[in-house]
Amino acid sequence: MNLPQLFAPVALGAHTLANRIVMAPMTRLRAIDAMPNAAMADYYAQRASAGLIVTECTMVSDTSAAYINAPGIYGDQFIDPWHVVTDAVHQAGGRIYLQLWHSGRVAHNSMMPGSMPPMAPSAIAGVGDLHTFTGKHPMSVPRAMTSDEIRGLTKAFGKAADRARRAGFDGVELHGAYGYLIDQFLRDGSNARDDDYGGSVENRIRFLLGIIGAVQQSMGVNVGVKLSPVSRAHGMSDTDPEVTFAALLDRLNEADLAYVHMMEPLPEDLTPAPAIAKTRLFARQHYRGTLITNGGFDAAAAEAAIAAGEADLVSFGQAFIANPDLPYRMALGAPLAVPDFERVYGMPGQPIEKGYSDYPAFARQ
Ligand SMILES: Cc1cc2nc3c(=O)[nH]c(=O)nc-3n(C[C@H](O)[C@H](O)[C@H](O)COP(=O)(O)O)c2cc1C
Repeated sequence: MNLPQLFAPVALGAHTLANRIVMAPMTRLRAIDAMPNAAMADYYAQRASAGLIVTECTMVSDTSAAYINAPGIYGDQFIDPWHVVTDAVHQAGGRIYLQLWHSGRVAHNSMMPGSMPPMAPSAIAGVGDLHTFTGKHPMSVPRAMTSDEIRGLTKAFGKAADRARRAGFDGVELHGAYGYLIDQFLRDGSNARDDDYGGSVENRIRFLLGIIGAVQQSMGVNVGVKLSPVSRAHGMSDTDPEVTFAALLDRLNEADLAYVHMMEPLPEDLTPAPAIAKTRLFARQHYRGTLITNGGFDAAAAEAAIAAGEADLVSFGQAFIANPDLPYRMALGAPLAVPDFERVYGMPGQPIEKGYSDYPAFARQ
């Protein structure tokens, strides 16, 4: 397939990427006790022909407690194991950003240190069940963070970014999407605070802007932000996403980011107002920097979006699960392998590699 736009190199932060195909962050729950391992190094290295890999979301604090076997970066003990991953990707010719994450209210008391309630902007519970060590349970009612805790977690993001730099990552992406902590601050359905971090849009975006400042101290221009303005994930809502995200994107122009990564609406999301329905066009109206678009693309649609100037890069999630050499297959126009959906997420006690790092490259089939 002729894909001149997708395969054109592009500058991103301080680096030049070989192509505009980004591997979207995907939680795979293979990090036993939160530690990166050899299978994860294999998995990411196999996918290094993407112009950029963004890792699965990674905990900046042990108070981020949504999922069993999600990876961490909340202490120096994580640096060497992550370095094995970044070395493997770099040896394979790739670039890799670590996605920094706090789950906020998407958590259950039993998974939290000391079984305390999860931390969130306000004491408003998320919607849905979580797998815990004692079976499936609804998300716990969180408690509203104090100002000290907000400052503490902002610093935790900064420290995590510094560890990511020491672990060899080319940059970090802040997970501001999909109903996790940063998103919980942005949208008024989960943020009912009446202090400097809630109420007006200016106040709701303050937490994210503070975190950007904190992570840029070590990562400089190699910082991206992922957003999903109309996602309903985990019970999210906002009275006026257009106003919230227009204000945020306008402010992000001053932040000297590597990129903004925007999710298009998924079928289960809020019915977006027309102005925000094609999220990448909305983002282009407000944000002048590099834009990665995401959500439901195939090679032809991605090529068309870049050709039309709607985005600079396109990220692919599900397509990378069973197709480690996705760019090669796209260039060939080869059929894509279908994932084993039973094994998308790792389960305690199951072999890590199965349905994860054992999908063959196309040439070997
Ligand atoms: C198994 C799976 C895990 C995911 N985990 C994350 C994650 O950790 N962080 C994140 O920002 N998005 C996550 N996503 C969302 C993807 O990054 C992407 O936005 C979504 O899959 C839509 O892109 P696609 O249509 O190309 O798959 C996940 C998606 C899947 C399928």
